[in-house]
Amino acid sequence: MHPYDFNREIQSERLLLRKMTLEDAVDIFDYASDVQVSKFTTWENHKNIEDTLTFLKIIMQKYENNQPSDWGIVHKETNKVIGTCGWVYINESHHRAEIGYALSPIYWNQGIITESMKQVLNLGFNELDINRIEARCMIGNLGSERVMIKLGMQFEGLIREQMFVKESYINIKMYSILKNEWIQQRFPN
Ligand SMILES: CC(C)(COP(=O)(O)OP(=O)(O)OC[C@H]1O[C@@H](n2cnc3c(N)ncnc32)[C@H](O)[C@@H]1OP(=O)(O)O)[C@@H](O)C(=O)NCCC(=O)NCCS
Repeated sequence: MHPYDFNREIQSERLLLRKMTLEDAVDIFDYASDVQVSKFTTWENHKNIEDTLTFLKIIMQKYENNQPSDWGIVHKETNKVIGTCGWVYINESHHRAEIGYALSPIYWNQGIITESMKQVLNLGFNELDINRIEARCMIGNLGSERVMIKLGMQFEGLIREQMFVKESYINIKMYSILKNEWIQQRFPN
């Protein structure tokens, strides 16, 4: 049996989620170098194209090893990679996963990440038999938190100083959604 492709290509109305290649480096550097984007991320903004290539090589290694990873988010209008989204991890024993995302500021507040994550949640719950999908954000990341709420995720609590990022301990907000909630939300009685 072939191992499952955790990042198989998915489409939505405006977007194509596909595996990234080194050829996407310039598109990704364009926004990953912006300090606005990295303000609430664990990673620093990319200082040069080498940082972006290093990031891409880690992602591509995961594809090769059949490990869950990120998709590149391609806007169908421009055919450019405008962000990434995907699996932080999948725990197959517990049927649990975590999702993450980042987008070029040019496209913020147009529903792009909500649209892409709906596809990811569908894949997770319907094809991968995941029961619980989590998302976390740093306190103050109101845009990210709003995405979680729009996806129907529930706030579970503030995890105090769960991360040490950029020389500070950071409080983290934990959200999750269960498979039965996702199905109920999509197909209410
Ligand atoms: C967080 C992020 C991914 C959201 O992507 P997006 O495509 O803009 O998200 P959406 O358009 O689907 O939804 C954003 C929502 O947040 C709201 N929002 C954005 N900034 C906000 C703010 N400062 N205060 C309150 N609400 C805010 C928007 O109004 C929108 O809600 P609405 O549709 O009800 O109006 C994007 O801002 C980003 O890439 N940020 C930098 C990287 C990052 O922080 N990643 C997440 C790490 S946990």
